[in-house]
Amino acid sequence: MRPLRRGLSASRIRLLLLWAVPEQHQSPAERWAERGFSSTQGLQDGPGESSSEDQVTVHFINRDGERLTTTAKEGQSLLEVVVNHNLAIDGFGACEGTLACSTCHLIFDKEAFQKLDAISDEELDMLDLAYGLTDTSRLGCQVCVKKSMDGLTVRVPMDVSDMRKQLEVGKQSKQ
Ligand code: FES
Repeated sequence: MRPLRRGLSASRIRLLLLWAVPEQHQSPAERWAERGFSSTQGLQDGPGESSSEDQVTVHFINRDGERLTTTAKEGQSLLEVVVNHNLAIDGFGACEGTLACSTCHLIFDKEAFQKLDAISDEELDMLDLAYGLTDTSRLGCQVCVKKSMDGLTVRVPMDVSDMRKQLEVGKQSKQ
């Protein structure tokens, strides 16, 4: 088990508080489209704009054990893959990749995990808040697809921790 790291920076706490503003009843894809988030461009790509040679197959094992198989383009984050293909992963990507929620927590197998790019301190801070943390956990918004990942399988943890909801509960209990 990875040791927990204590203490969030003041800037990270400010960012978390910003996300405490409730935005309910919208999927991440809907919110991203509303805000013009550039990575939703993939939803607008017409057929034939990328060849199958550019495609990488990725499998997500959902919280209920269902396997969701899709294709991704090299350079996309795994969060973008989920959003662009509207994969039904409950609560995934709540902060839209701004490293403020840990809802994009994914578990890799050991071999795949060892090939991933180095993890940043900011990602480690958020991972510390994720439920079901493992030695091979990463945040999907921070992992970009590479050709060598073709056939990758990642597992979505059973439980999800959305820091924004915890902050909302805290605010309500003070009222
Ligand atoms: Fe929120 Fe990745 S989507 S930390």
